Amino acid sequence: SDFQIRKAGMGNEPSAITVTLSDSTTNPEGYRLTVGKNLISIEAGSEKGVFYAFQTLIQLIYPGSRQISKGKTAVPCVSVIDDPQYIWRGIHLDVSRHFFQKEFIFKLLDAMAMHKLNTFHWHLTDDQGWRIEILKYPELTAKGAWRDETLIGHGSETPWKYDGIRYGGFYTRQDVRDVVEYSSRLHINVLPEIEMPGHAVAALISYPGLSCEGSQVPPFNRWGVSGDVFCAGKEDTFTFLEGVLSEVCELFPYEYIHIGGDECPKVKWHECPDCQKRMADNNLKDESELQSYFVKRIAAFLESKGKKIIGWDEILEGGIAESAAVMSWRGSAGGIEAANKGHDVVMTPHSFVYLDYYQSPYNEPLSIGGMLDLKKVYSLLVMPEEITADMRRHIIGAQANIWTEYMTDSRHVEYMVFPRIAALAEVLWSDPADLDYENFKMRMNEQYARYDARGINYRVPYPE
Ligand code: ACM
Ligand code: ZN
Repeated sequence: SDFQIRKAGMGNEPSAITVTLSDSTTNPEGYRLTVGKNLISIEAGSEKGVFYAFQTLIQLIYPGSRQISKGKTAVPCVSVIDDPQYIWRGIHLDVSRHFFQKEFIFKLLDAMAMHKLNTFHWHLTDDQGWRIEILKYPELTAKGAWRDETLIGHGSETPWKYDGIRYGGFYTRQDVRDVVEYSSRLHINVLPEIEMPGHAVAALISYPGLSCEGSQVPPFNRWGVSGDVFCAGKEDTFTFLEGVLSEVCELFPYEYIHIGGDECPKVKWHECPDCQKRMADNNLKDESELQSYFVKRIAAFLESKGKKIIGWDEILEGGIAESAAVMSWRGSAGGIEAANKGHDVVMTPHSFVYLDYYQSPYNEPLSIGGMLDLKKVYSLLVMPEEITADMRRHIIGAQANIWTEYMTDSRHVEYMVFPRIAALAEVLWSDPADLDYENFKMRMNEQYARYDARGINYRVPYPE
């Protein structure tokens, strides 16, 4: 259908924005934007395209436009024909290591829309806190959402010291619905992540019967990888996870559910009679195949709910579930292997998109480590050369990951995200032939003014 937004001008001249939905734009996220002398016209194949056209129009108006008289603004005459290279353009946020109120999530989503990003990956569970209300398992938020203390300083500094301060929080079902509804208005998909079989200590503290020993596991209030994981032998583990995932499927309309799958030590499984019996009963030759059994079983359950799974690249080990998509984080190798096997892949190679890494060698707040400046983010090759021509369609995009061990408040998160996310946004949207870092850096001067206008905290680049 066609529709028009037409507003009478202040004076005699009619000023108007015309919006037309048509099928001349084949990419549903693409648009044409024309600013002529008396008319702004937008043409797109879907509401998504219209939405991105308006994001571009807002960019043209501020801060680049010239005020021609008080209360009147000039928009430069342009003709833009635009669409994105990749359908998955995301940000991941870890709300387990530190918790962020939903109002901050709204602010982040607004900023994502401004950068034409369309996927918000919400890392809702981990060792240090369970952050989503589940009606069937109330202990998850009564107990699992809270910790008695948090590590002080960097995790590599031993002996470990703790602050002795109780910390926690969680999102109610209503909070989740609010975030999903807010996102949908910004054409952003919300991908929930429920971690398994590792990164599960908060769940095990709430329900100790799900560990291999079947008894209380110690809290894990520092950073790193805990050896305590969900028991893969006990049926109770699967009953529990299916109960949790059933509620998650109801709350999140997006077709994908992220099941984690990364960094699962197999020591407890090796010693556990239940896990060893599971392996023997199913002819699994080692604990990697047991993890594969675990993920495949969960994948089959989620498929029965009409969902698809995505997991970190470890889900390739021991055999990947047929329908699973892969998030390649330990570099590009996992993504290359998965795409060449015909699985969809989202690229998140840590050395290019882990925004918890340092931004410069000077005067930066304490971070996990690494070094990732704006230029390096911009240099990400989303499409590795090793992907065979017929499999390139399986590289569906990329995202930045924000692990929050060392980010205790939202201003710090913003400082780590901005401006680096702008580099990733441009790489994901643009034709690779158009990418030019020097040109990008020059255009960023206007972007900083936009961040200022929105009250976004960002790292101010050093003068050169
Ligand atoms: C990860 O960074 N452990 C996915
Ligand atoms: Zn076990």
